[in-house]
Amino acid sequence: MTEIFQTQRLIIREWIPEADAAQAFEIYGDSEVVRFLSGIPEESVENVRVRLQRVTERYTQLNNGSGLWAIVEKQTGEIVGTVLLKQLPNNEGKPTQDYEVGWHLKKAVWGKGYATEAGRGAIEYGFNLLKLPVIYAVVKLENHGSIRVTQRLGMIPMGRTHKYYGIELELFKLDTDQFFLSCQI
Ligand SMILES: CC(C)(COP(=O)(O)OP(=O)(O)OC[C@H]1O[C@@H](n2cnc3c(N)ncnc32)[C@H](O)[C@@H]1OP(=O)(O)O)[C@@H](O)C(=O)NCCC(=O)NCCS
Repeated sequence: MTEIFQTQRLIIREWIPEADAAQAFEIYGDSEVVRFLSGIPEESVENVRVRLQRVTERYTQLNNGSGLWAIVEKQTGEIVGTVLLKQLPNNEGKPTQDYEVGWHLKKAVWGKGYATEAGRGAIEYGFNLLKLPVIYAVVKLENHGSIRVTQRLGMIPMGRTHKYYGIELELFKLDTDQFFLSCQI
């Protein structure tokens, strides 16, 4: 098991497709969780396992520090979501040089501040270890819960963009100086 980083209440680690598929299905089989993602809930644990396998292989191959990782609640040892730090895909699905932070939480843990805590950890990791100058987030226009997370993280709203994923999204941005300044206050 490869741990990526820890926060006060959470451990962020690589997915283990075989062992984690059932817990991941609890997240991605829920229509409310995927509402602003693909919109289509996963149908089976096996489908989720295959997805996790592909994801872990892709990031192992890339080997550039980016990833899509499991969030484990320290108190229970349970997987409660995903946090990601990866290159934004352009409208053809090709990776750009722009990195995004993102979060998907199991419904049972919404309202505990885990998305903000994991997102802040991923941003610190991106600035400190990957030496990224800027980190973005993209959010579907009606996803108010996620827009609130970007605000808690001190990200700057940049308006709408059509540059990524082939759809219209709200773009948020944070650069190193803004982030470390907001941490000191
Ligand atoms: C978007 C999503 C992550 C937001 O989850 P969330 O639980 O509202 O966000 P946070 O983890 O930041 O939690 C913040 C809430 O917890 C509360 N909270 C409780 N304890 C807290 C703590 N210790 N620290 C911070 N906030 C805390 C806050 O008051 C806040 O509640 P509020 O929204 O009523 O003000 C969640 O709805 C989700 O996973 N959705 C599905 C996937 C998705 O759409 N992802 C985003 C794609 S762009």
